[in-house]
Amino acid sequence: MLTGIGVCFGAPATPPPTSPASTTATATPTIRAEPVAAGIWRIRLGEPEPLTPTRYRSAPFAPDSLTTLAAPTPLPFALEQIVFRHSRRGCSVELPMDPAERIYGFGLNTRLFEMTQNGKGNAGRRVFLRPTDHPENDLGESHAPVPFYVSTRGYGVLVDTARYASFFTGNVAPVKSGDAGGSGEAASTTTELYQARTLRKKTMLVEIPAAGGVDLYVFSGPTMLDAVQRYNLFSGGGCVPPLWGLGIEYRGAGKFSAAESSALARQLREQHMPCDVWGLEPGWQSKAYSCSLVWDEKRFPDPDGFVAAMHGMNYRLNAWQHAFTHPTSPIHAALRPWSGDFQVWGGLVPDFATSEGRRIFQQHNDRVLFGKGVEGVKLDECDHQPTSANPWSFPDVSAFPSGLDGEQMHSLIGVLYQQTMLEPLQQRNRRTWGLVRNSHALAAPLPYTIYSDEYDLRCYVRGLAVQGFSGLLWVPEVRDSVSLEDFYRRLQVQLFAPQTIIDCWYMNNPPWVQIDRAKNNRGEVMPESARVTAEVRTLLQLRMSLVPYLYAAFNAYRVTGLPPVRALVLDWPADTRVRTIDDQFMVGPALLVAPLFVGETQRSVYLPAGDWYDFWTREKFTGPTTITVSKPLEQIPFFVKAGTVLPWADPVEWIQDNTCFDVVARVYGDQPAECTLYEDDGVTFDFARGAQSQLTLRWDGAKGSETRAGAYAGPARYRVRAWERIR
Ligand code: GAL
Repeated sequence: MLTGIGVCFGAPATPPPTSPASTTATATPTIRAEPVAAGIWRIRLGEPEPLTPTRYRSAPFAPDSLTTLAAPTPLPFALEQIVFRHSRRGCSVELPMDPAERIYGFGLNTRLFEMTQNGKGNAGRRVFLRPTDHPENDLGESHAPVPFYVSTRGYGVLVDTARYASFFTGNVAPVKSGDAGGSGEAASTTTELYQARTLRKKTMLVEIPAAGGVDLYVFSGPTMLDAVQRYNLFSGGGCVPPLWGLGIEYRGAGKFSAAESSALARQLREQHMPCDVWGLEPGWQSKAYSCSLVWDEKRFPDPDGFVAAMHGMNYRLNAWQHAFTHPTSPIHAALRPWSGDFQVWGGLVPDFATSEGRRIFQQHNDRVLFGKGVEGVKLDECDHQPTSANPWSFPDVSAFPSGLDGEQMHSLIGVLYQQTMLEPLQQRNRRTWGLVRNSHALAAPLPYTIYSDEYDLRCYVRGLAVQGFSGLLWVPEVRDSVSLEDFYRRLQVQLFAPQTIIDCWYMNNPPWVQIDRAKNNRGEVMPESARVTAEVRTLLQLRMSLVPYLYAAFNAYRVTGLPPVRALVLDWPADTRVRTIDDQFMVGPALLVAPLFVGETQRSVYLPAGDWYDFWTREKFTGPTTITVSKPLEQIPFFVKAGTVLPWADPVEWIQDNTCFDVVARVYGDQPAECTLYEDDGVTFDFARGAQSQLTLRWDGAKGSETRAGAYAGPARYRVRAWERIR
């Protein structure tokens, strides 16, 4: 006979609890929305943690900057509809959703786009905000998991937390919201069984571990783009690169010596390959995993001489590093009390949230790099590897002197590291342009672009579309390729990214010599190398022609928060057809880019309302329309909006402090049109003290004119050598 161990039939009934054990639902009347500035509110729920993204903001918020935006709309939901709970697990917030609303954002998701899509329709999904070095998963983990989203209803929400929060975008059904509307049908396949549950009422549920409360910041519209701009201005405004940062960057092989670096750098000059920045990978240091942060005496016996020689060839320098500090580093002992309690690759994890840890690290880097004239850094490995069986990084339980734990530090380390490395250059009044592999909320003012080891071109292009939802910059880098077609398509996409980088850290020769990594390192030259070299030069020249246009787009990012590269849905909020377009993107005010992918000789392109011109053929199309375009391998499809003056520069090979671009003002369409170019010294922060000007190129329908306004007094940046009409 079976004895019912652990099984209990007929147990006495337990009365139902009035609320789940250890959970407190806060009485809703106490919820208040505190105005922060025009169209921005803070809603404080429970007792927020002290160490959050707003505590570590990268730049001050100037409420006056909001005057460039449309008048704000009212708070998008009634405060009584907000439900807040906290328990031993942490806290949660429920916000009402309109069944038709669509959500975007949450950082740099290269696999996800429209965040109410769950692979089976618009039924909502979970997005999990945890930093990872493998962003191409469909949970929302990424190099930059940002707790900020925007809605097609025209508002944005920042959840001010450094925890690994989960957002359920309309796929959970609180019992008290009534009948959820499940089908209730028995199923005979798992597809049927788990098919999308489209709920009648939608709720945004935010789950935040560990915290007893949280601040929400709500950003008003009227459109999603207005909400994004408000968020970017609240962050402190978008960054402006040094002018040279918009040129091309080449990164040499990891173990190149000074002699090898300068030899290849010289070769690029002889080939007239446009290049502004030379990237040093780990081998400039004596120890690199973890990092000594000192020059290797054998490979770089004379760092000053090397820097001078590279500057002499008109290269700026960018040096790779990560923060984990090797025992041989001269700052190791001083840093020890200001580091976390776990090592990474045998190195200390500096606590950049303490002023001491930050200062020790800064002073050393200033001496070793910036003081020698190195212009920028690539901040590697500051993401995480949470799903690995053998992760390299520090555990979530780590403790840091600032009070941050490992989970919070994983979220914030990228932002803190960027700030740490930016401040010494700000003190030297030198702008910088760098790379980083982890970022988070309020990052718009940071002049660093996120990159990844992952290499899927479709994901790369999606990254370009989504970066603009969350105040981030993204570069889909180019290294080796499986075919010439793959190489060209990658390179073309990059020409429209915030940075153009050929990252040959594991290749001795440039990819135009050999695209295959193994053959490249054996020195085998592709038979078509001469032709490819010429075609790559032409492609890179296209980027150089775009520099004045891009520089103006970045100035708009700073002043108005308008993301320089963004998804179409931000520009056409009323057009429902753009809501799922993640393989086209906008650059600046007027360029629509629709890359071709490997295996495609043609693709369909959606052109929203208005007239558009194919850049290559100058053919005119009237949107909204879907067209089929085909392009040869050397061309990437892109379109210019009618009513645009496109400042097309004669390509230079590198940008000097006194470079003046010769520009053809290309007028697209019949109507009057204008564009405003941005002028300043290109390298310092003097623009913030007024040393900047706007050059407006205006076409009145019959002739062009130029007007300059502002106080920049240096050498002219642009000379309009011709006006050209395209219609
Ligand atoms: C990787 C990084 C690469 C390269 C390499 C050098 O982590 O993503 O771009 O810098 O390190 O070791």
